[in-house]
Amino acid sequence: MLQWIDEEVAIYAIIQLEIPRTVTKFISEIDFVSSAKEGDIVEIGIDVVKFGKTSITLTCSVRNKLTHNKILDVEKIIMVSLDETGAPVKHGKTKKEYVKDRLEKESNL
Ligand SMILES: CC(C)(COP(=O)(O)OP(=O)(O)OC[C@H]1O[C@@H](n2cnc3c(N)ncnc32)[C@H](O)[C@@H]1OP(=O)(O)O)[C@@H](O)C(=O)NCCC(=O)NCCS
Repeated sequence: MLQWIDEEVAIYAIIQLEIPRTVTKFISEIDFVSSAKEGDIVEIGIDVVKFGKTSITLTCSVRNKLTHNKILDVEKIIMVSLDETGAPVKHGKTKKEYVKDRLEKESNL
């Protein structure tokens, strides 16, 4: 589950920041609220807490898709964008963007 979360969060952060070299810096405590059984369908929800200069802070909640029971919460996950030398680089983003809006904007150009 933690590997899935890390992958989903990385994809989410890369889409938000539009910088493919974005890595996991910090994951806060993980609160396992209830267990999931093999065969359960789980839903990983991610949201933005804040945009930093080179970082983005995300929160994550995993639920059972059918029962809606919460499986776990991760309060804070910090992802950092890096340049080609591996040093933190400013991403210039300040608010959450949706791919749908980006595509609409591009098609209106
Ligand atoms: C990511 C890395 C380059 C950051 O280096 P660093 O020396 O901490 O860089 P900085 O001090 O400039 O911090 C970069 C950003 O991370 C934030 N940050 C760093 N440590 C943090 C922590 N413990 N908690 C919260 N935020 C933190 C800083 O606030 C800064 O954010 P901002 O620019 O938005 O203000 C370096 O730690 C690294 O390479 N880590 C390994 C990452 C990795 O391999 N991840 C994969 C794990 S599978």
